Amino acid sequence: MGNVVITRRDFIKGAVALGGLMAAGGFWRAFDTGVFQAGSGPAYEAWGKNVTGIDGLVNSAILATNAHNTQPWHFKIDNHSIDIFADKTRNIGTADPYFRELYISIGCSLENLILAAKVNGYSPNVTLLPNPTNDSHVAHIELTKTQPVSSPLYDVIPNRRMNRAPYEKDRAVSKEILQSMVNLNENSSEIKVFMFDSATDKQKVGKAMIEATEAFIGDPDQVRDDTKWMRQSWDTIKEKKDGITLDAQGLPGWMLTVAKMLPPMSPEQNNKYWISNVRDKQIPTSAAFGFIAVQDLNSKQQVVQAGQLWQRIHLFGTTKGLGMHILNQLSERRDRELSQGIEPVFGKKLHEILGDSKWNSVIQFRLGYPTAEPHHSPRRPVSEVLI
Ligand SMILES: Cc1cc2nc3c(=O)[nH]c(=O)nc-3n(C[C@H](O)[C@H](O)[C@H](O)COP(=O)(O)O)c2cc1C
Repeated sequence: MGNVVITRRDFIKGAVALGGLMAAGGFWRAFDTGVFQAGSGPAYEAWGKNVTGIDGLVNSAILATNAHNTQPWHFKIDNHSIDIFADKTRNIGTADPYFRELYISIGCSLENLILAAKVNGYSPNVTLLPNPTNDSHVAHIELTKTQPVSSPLYDVIPNRRMNRAPYEKDRAVSKEILQSMVNLNENSSEIKVFMFDSATDKQKVGKAMIEATEAFIGDPDQVRDDTKWMRQSWDTIKEKKDGITLDAQGLPGWMLTVAKMLPPMSPEQNNKYWISNVRDKQIPTSAAFGFIAVQDLNSKQQVVQAGQLWQRIHLFGTTKGLGMHILNQLSERRDRELSQGIEPVFGKKLHEILGDSKWNSVIQFRLGYPTAEPHHSPRRPVSEVLI
């Protein structure tokens, strides 16, 4: 997934100071991009809401990780159950030709919902893909009243966010934390977490991630479909309450302000900054990389469960003060190769990295101690996702 704008340093060089930009008309652009309202207003209300009852469970669900912030979900609430449906119109096209990222996203929201249910005194009984003739019906959750339990993972749902900032360069993440993440896997026969934290492994994985990003950028269809979910104007964010924003990029505060006051970037400029950010900042400062893999790429159940596992891992990382960031260009390129029937360059690379062709990665991520805390991403409120 492309970043709206990662850094505009080249533009900023010579643009001396904020004062100069203000004088040059940046002040009005600042209104347009919401410099003064970052992270506030209706598009962000779900993050701070204390919603009670079953609606509250859905409010937790919509705060989950999801591909390109497409929020590809609908929820149907009954007195004793919730159903989650895929909204396949909210897709990312050639970046996800088999809708795997869409089903992962729903898995993430399901996991938040399960955690919220338990804390709110429900015992959730989940059936995945309950309707053999409708694969948009992703989960049916029966809710029975029981004793509430406490959950550190639930507690940090409102604090979790994708952290695309650089991480502290020489600060390792302990083996114990990495192993605890691996142990969060509840289905080890079909799903596996691979962790890479040695210098040699990180070198190999980082290089492959950079090459995959370059290949993605070299594919005009993938770039076009990626760009559709970029939100540059404050009015669009307020109206759509979705997509990738500048505020979520993890830029230092002053740079974010300046970036918002400059004219929007062309896709070419954006791609240039995207690759330099991945290559020079994100990959070299990662303390470790993790891959979540499934046995059967075509099993929607396994892909949904991979999403659930990611969500638990990300929440756990949040409790430990870690920054975490999915960089899925390797699997996005693998799926593009499959859909086009072209040489499986990244398909092979993924298998080489995992060292076992039985496992197919659907999520690749970096982690480390962050140097900045980005704003949250917008969300459509519960009222807009109920059917
Ligand atoms: C399957 C999947 C793939 C993703 N791929 C990327 C990616 O390649 N690059 C990236 O910066 N974020 C990626 N993300 C993160 C989403 O963009 C992010 O979760 C979304 O914008 C919402 O932001 P939040 O997690 O901070 O709430 C991915 C998320 C999912 C579930």
